[in-house]
Amino acid sequence: MQMGVSSIQMLSVLLVCVASTKQTEGSYALKMWSKEDQALREQLALMYKEIEALRHDQSLMKQKQEDMTQAVMHCTQMQADTDKEVNVTSLEKGSTSMLYSFSQEEEGDVTDEGLNPCYSYKSLNQDWRATNYSTRQVSCDRNVRWNGWYRLFYRGKSIQMPELCVKRERCGTHAPLWLVGGHPRKRDGIVTRKICGHWNNNCCAFQSPPIQVKACQGNYYVYKFVQPLACHLAYCADVNTLACGKCKKNEICTSKDKIKWFCKKTKRRVKAKVHFFAAYPGSLSGKVNRIRYSKVYVNVGGAFNRLTGVFTAPVKGIYQFFFSTQAARTGRKTDLWLVVNSYWVSVSHTHVSVSNTVGALSTYMTTLRKGALVYVTHNCGNSYANSASNTIVFGGSLLLAQT
Ligand SMILES: *[C@@H]1O[C@H](CO)[C@@H](O)[C@H](O)[C@H]1NC(C)=O
Ligand SMILES: *[C@@H]1O[C@H](CO)[C@@H](O)[C@H](O)[C@H]1NC(C)=O
Repeated sequence: MQMGVSSIQMLSVLLVCVASTKQTEGSYALKMWSKEDQALREQLALMYKEIEALRHDQSLMKQKQEDMTQAVMHCTQMQADTDKEVNVTSLEKGSTSMLYSFSQEEEGDVTDEGLNPCYSYKSLNQDWRATNYSTRQVSCDRNVRWNGWYRLFYRGKSIQMPELCVKRERCGTHAPLWLVGGHPRKRDGIVTRKICGHWNNNCCAFQSPPIQVKACQGNYYVYKFVQPLACHLAYCADVNTLACGKCKKNEICTSKDKIKWFCKKTKRRVKAKVHFFAAYPGSLSGKVNRIRYSKVYVNVGGAFNRLTGVFTAPVKGIYQFFFSTQAARTGRKTDLWLVVNSYWVSVSHTHVSVSNTVGALSTYMTTLRKGALVYVTHNCGNSYANSASNTIVFGGSLLLAQT
């Protein structure tokens, strides 16, 4: 549909420019046609604005729908949990999820089965997995039928895997398994991490198959454990990370040495600042698909690319743009269009009928989603500038970030 619309648009705009040059010959019929076309073009511009708004609405709806689907799945899962009789082995279904609301960060981080592992895991509450537990009884995780996602607990308290080599004969096994490469952040989603088993002064004497890990809202992690290759190897729970269970909602658990863990307030998200202003330091004639405004005066946030002339919205929000030209020469039309996501949304139109010159400035305000592309196309006519005049300019600002 996009292709169809833009080709019609190209055609009609092309006709406008052709009509305008012919108009100088004084053809009455052409003038009439041009007037009609003016109305048509206004209609088209309105239509494109409408389409852009609809597309934005559509993406919002899709997002809402995804959230709801996830919420429904979550509810189904919870129902399934309560339907099941409690099994008194140490593997229990988790049910802490009710405490946490759905946040945007969780969006899209679902498993192949379409479930968010942060809300559908099994609790692994086995004290012998603790890093300070020596081998009174030797366990081997190769004998466990791992299935799905697990959250580690120690005496009912949330705990994490160690990120450092653990002494041998700990964690109730011979070669303790630890997480290589550290835990992910929430925004990383589901990641794959290497697992090593310590033996004979070699921290990675056993290279166990990698596992998947995900950080969840509420300072806990879920692991997709798999069978290690040999016995006796077992996944460890680092007692030093018990401190992380006390972190509040606005805190993250962190450690400099991976030994001592503490809660730290998360930095308030810096409000996105996006401003740019650039000029084209020469004259333009006829069709220029994308004006490369190479003289950049302001580019806070770095969203404007001076090599391509394209502005890429770094966050979702309300943006305002402006673009200008200096047109001249009797009887010729000069059209510059603002192009948003390949829709021509706003025109700077100049048509000087006497031998004179005039500056034109156009503005446009719109809601953009992250990644939207905006640039200016020189469709026809002549625009005048030199390196100091700043008459052909393009600029804009993020007025309001929407998360
Ligand atoms: C617990 O669950 C396991 C696996 O589903 C099953 O084999 C076992 O019999 C259950 N134990 C009890 C006490 O229900
Ligand atoms: C292991 O550490 C925990 C938490 O610090 C402690 O409560 C427990 O007594 C320790 N266990 C052993 C065997 O040292």
